[in-house]
Order: sequence, then structure tokens, then C-alpha cells
Amino acid sequence: MKNPLVPGWLSENKDLEALDAAIWPATAQRNDRGELELGGVSAPELVRQYGSPLYVLDQSDFESRLAEVRDAFENAAAKAGTSVKLYYASKALLTTDVARWVVSAGYAIDVSTGGELAVALAGGTEGERLGLHGNNKSLVEIGRAVSADVSAIVIDSEIEIERIASIAGAQDKIQPVRLRVNSGVHASTHEYLATAREDQKFGIALDDVPQMVEKIRSHSHLRFLGLHSHIGSQIFAVEGFVAAAEKLLEVHAELLAGGEVPELNLGGGFGIRYTAADEPMPIAELASQIVSAVSKKCAALSIAVPKLAFEPGRIIAGPAGVTLYSVGTTKDVVIAESGEGASRRYVSVDGGMSDNIRPALYGAEYSAAIASRTTNSSGVLSRVVGKHCESGDIVVRHEMLPADLAVNDLLAVPATGAYCYSLSSNYNFLPRPALVAVKDGKARALVRAESEQDLLERDLGYQPGGGE
Ligand SMILES: Cc1ncc(COP(=O)(O)O)c(C=O)c1O
Repeated sequence: MKNPLVPGWLSENKDLEALDAAIWPATAQRNDRGELELGGVSAPELVRQYGSPLYVLDQSDFESRLAEVRDAFENAAAKAGTSVKLYYASKALLTTDVARWVVSAGYAIDVSTGGELAVALAGGTEGERLGLHGNNKSLVEIGRAVSADVSAIVIDSEIEIERIASIAGAQDKIQPVRLRVNSGVHASTHEYLATAREDQKFGIALDDVPQMVEKIRSHSHLRFLGLHSHIGSQIFAVEGFVAAAEKLLEVHAELLAGGEVPELNLGGGFGIRYTAADEPMPIAELASQIVSAVSKKCAALSIAVPKLAFEPGRIIAGPAGVTLYSVGTTKDVVIAESGEGASRRYVSVDGGMSDNIRPALYGAEYSAAIASRTTNSSGVLSRVVGKHCESGDIVVRHEMLPADLAVNDLLAVPATGAYCYSLSSNYNFLPRPALVAVKDGKARALVRAESEQDLLERDLGYQPGGGE
């Protein structure tokens, strides 16, 4: 009997050992025992060495995505007779090693807090390769960015113009700045991921831009680079990017009357495949369509195509990451109100919303596969859930998993490289997992796992040995 709870995009007869190349990292494969291997290292071996849950990053996959995205935008820009500067959006995933990989691939790094700035600097990133974002940068954060000679600070509100100018003045520097614009374009994505709706916190309304730029230009310690737009995240359709670019270019053209506007930054947000339901456009195609729309609009406005900048994050880090979990309990739930045959297996794993908040935060969908062995059994509609005290603590909402899935089996959830480690928490006092890079048959921890002791030591009432 068909289970009415299986969503249309999920095949009830899917091959339970298959690793869809559009979702899993490039080196993902199964060895003779049917174990998942990443970068030539098996999932059980990784868990033996580093514990479970575990964030695994396929380094060569990450590096080849850096190259693919860079080539896509560089080729598109060259065709339009301009150049492009790429800022990796470090909020997606950042460690000192990740910063080094990104910079060696020719990228700059976009940071949005003093903390991210500190990690990028600790990874040896030079100021020229850094940009600072944020809607509420502190004076200290701005001061650190100016003294590091970051290549751009993105101004998000009028108040920041004076702040940045006076800090740059005090350091006797001329700080390049961009102005973030709220284009009003509604990107087709989750509300919390869409950042250019009118009623939200980021950017300056288009109508106010000329006056703000005049103000920026009046400060001798600021140099205006151009406008910035970021319409949201996990976007598949090109239309939103094009609409935002066109709106910005109209204002950009007006601004040319008052001085130079050398650049245009169109942000990030390029979507990836998490499940079979997602069909992102190949990045070369998306980049080409965005840049050619920019070029066309510039021709229509009779202006030169500015130097372009983009801020990809998820598209680089997301598909390179896999999270490994151990199965703790399974439970079959019959859902009579959903019709005959409606049932779901709840598979509880040893992590959850503390290592991946995205399903709870914006209903994100993931997929999963058994990682520790081969299986011949049929699939059962399953929901992978965490161990936290929240019913919204879901890791994978809908997946067909082997009917013989058992306690201590390992499950792997792909496409967790972006916004999982970086959004992790210690909810329910769970120590955060290690982040391990795999490449050419070797594993190396980029970030060690936390221990309960690590967490306890931040509690100033903690008295080692008991506290009587
Ligand atoms: C200003 C800005 N740029 C770039 C990004 C990166 O977006 P994505 O990881 O979807 O490419 C974000 C994400 O929130 C952002 O806020």
C-alpha cells in the first residue's frame, strides 16, 4: 500500500545505497563493505577517530567548487569586458584553514563580525582580501577593519557613514566603502532568507541612495566604491538577481554624474541541491545570465560596465560537507488522520538542531543515507530527528531509509557544509562536534570536538571536584 506521507519528489523505490552526484561531495563513494567513503576515508573510521556526530568536509570538493565558481564569474565578466572580485561569504563556513583555501583560490573573504574578521586574519588573510559587512558593526569592529586595511566596508545605515569616516580619519586612512541597497526585489526563497524585501533590516531604500552617496563623498576619509545588493539565499531563479541588478544600475548611472562609481557588488545567494526536489541552474549558466543582463542594462543606460563583485558562500561550502550521526532509537508512528497506510519511522540520532538548525529555522529539507554498511532491505519513509527537547528538532524531514536500519548504524546527511557548523549551538548542553577535512585518503581535524568540560569551564559557578 502506498504511504500517503511520501512527498511527490521522493521516490519510494529509490536505491538506498545510491549517492546522487548532484548532492554528495565529488569523492563520496561506497567501498567493498558498502561503507560510505569521503576523500578516501570510510565513515566508520572517521567516527572511530573523531566521534559522532561529526562534520566532514571533502577538501578537494570544496577546492574544486572554489575554482568552478571563480571560473564561471571570471569568464562571464571577461565576456562583458570587465573583471570580477569574488568574496567568499565566510558566514557559510569559516576556520583558519578554510580561509587559507579560499585565499589560495584567488578569493577575498567577506566577514560580518569582528569574530569572523579575527578568524580570517588568523588564517593569514591580508586586508586587501577582506570585506566587512553587518547591519550593526561596533566601533571596535570598524576600528579593527580599518586598521587591517580591508578592501571594503559595506555601509548599511546612514549612522555608519559618520562612524566609519571618523574612525578612518583617526587612523589617517582613506577607507573604501560600498553602500548596501534594499532593492525591494522579492527573491523566491524562505522569508528569513530573503533580504531585499522592503520590511526588513538590511540596506538603504533605493530612493535614499543619492543623498547617502553625496554624504559619503563629502568625507575625505571615505572612498565610494559603489552599490551593494544581496537579495537572499538559496535562490535558483535568475530573475531576482537580474531585477536587483537593473534597479541598482539605474541609480548607479545617476551617481556617475557626481563622481566615480567603479564597482557593483551583487552579493551571493546561489542555491544548491539538498534533495531531489531542488534543481539549481549550473553556476556557469547563472553567472553568464546575470553578467550579460548587467552588460545589457549598462548598454541601455550608455554607461561602462563597472567592475563586478559577488559573495558566494553556500554554493562553495554546502555540497562539500557531510554530517555523520549514529542511530540511537527508532520508532514507527502510525498517523491515522493522514489516511490509510500513513506511517513514519522516527530515527533518532545523537545530534540534531544544535549541529544543524536549518530545518527548525526555515524548514530546510535534507536527504540522508546509511553510511556504515550495505543493505538489501526495502525503504521505509523515515524522519531523522535529533536528541533535543523540541519536537521541531528535525534533521531530515522526509527520506526513504532501509527497513533494517538499526541502533548504532551510521547515517550520513549530505550538503551540510554551509550554515551548519557556523550556526551550531550548545542547546541542551551538547558539546559541538569536530570538523574534519578529508582528502586523498587522509583525515585531519580542522576544529576539535568540544567536551562537556569545555562547556563547564565557562560556567563561573563550576567548582571542579564537586562544589560542596
Ligand atoms: C551580504 C551577504 N552576502 C553573501 C551571503 C552569502 O549567501 P550564500 O551563502 O547564500 O551565497 C550572505 C548570506 O546571508 C549575505 O548576507
